[in-house]
Amino acid sequence: MDYQHIPVMLKEVLEYLQPKKGGYYIDGTLGGGGYTSALSEIASATGKVLAIDLDEQAIANTAKKNLSNVVLVQDNFVNLSSIIESNIEEDKLFDGFVLDLGLSSFQLADIRRGFSFREDSPLDMAFNSSGESQKTRDIVNNYREEDLAKIFFNFGEEKHARRIAKGIVERRKLSRIETTGDLVEIIKKAIPRRLWSERVHPATKTFQALRIVVNKELENLAEVLPQALAALKSGGRLAIISFHSLEDRIVKDYFREQAKDCLCPPEIPICSCGHKASLKIITKKIVLPGEEEIKINPRSRSAKMRVAEKI
Ligand SMILES: C[S@@+](CC[C@H](N)C(=O)[O-])C[C@H]1O[C@@H](n2cnc3c(N)ncnc32)[C@H](O)[C@@H]1O
Repeated sequence: MDYQHIPVMLKEVLEYLQPKKGGYYIDGTLGGGGYTSALSEIASATGKVLAIDLDEQAIANTAKKNLSNVVLVQDNFVNLSSIIESNIEEDKLFDGFVLDLGLSSFQLADIRRGFSFREDSPLDMAFNSSGESQKTRDIVNNYREEDLAKIFFNFGEEKHARRIAKGIVERRKLSRIETTGDLVEIIKKAIPRRLWSERVHPATKTFQALRIVVNKELENLAEVLPQALAALKSGGRLAIISFHSLEDRIVKDYFREQAKDCLCPPEIPICSCGHKASLKIITKKIVLPGEEEIKINPRSRSAKMRVAEKI
């Protein structure tokens, strides 16, 4: 199976990152390598792209292209500081950092990965494909009903979270939930047919919520942002593309906080925190894909990009 993924907002990423010959860039979510290939070409032989992905198939796919200025690392971007320390010359700072969060079309299409609710496969959902992850099965088979409902509501914005959690608990009294098909069946039974959305599969939000929790997606994002900022030189840019309002909130809040000179509560008249702004927000409004892109690549429709520059 070929690694297929159409990069989202590639034109806008390049417009905002303003890559240049000899520049150093980090692509924290390599995927199909759309951004990495473009950055590598512009950076040319004197520049470098540090490209990271948890998924060894993503790494192997770009390795085949033999891009001499790309350093490929299979790891979690949450370990950014140590990845840089082990792979890049000491004290080198970067000109740009990009994240395109979530999963690739390739991962979704590979039924063995257990991300898809359209095929029956072991319930897995780990970004790293090297070993089967038990985490998703552990959650659905062992978590308390109220905790399941909280996960589906908080991370999937699923209105029927309680019904689904109840359905899961009822069903697992009979046998363990092992496959994506088992879970889809439970969800379809739990949500009355008349309440199904016409456009969105009834399992979409539950699957999204589990994926976010299993892969610690929000925690990883919150932890990588300060490491990315530390890795940039003055004038270097951070571009983050998210697909979920909770991810976007983390990016927005971090950028706003780092763009302020003082973080003391408003009732304190004289600053005692000494915080100095370290970022300038470049995108006052979020950047969204154009209509043409959404037509060609419907997956891009929920993408949102924010960009900031290190002061
Ligand atoms: C949407 S795809 C990126 C697509 C890429 N921009 C392109 O142009 O093809 C997201 C990728 O990020 C990877 N990923 C998600 N979370 C990660 C993490 N915490 N650390 C490393 N890679 C991660 C996934 O495995 C997936 O390959």
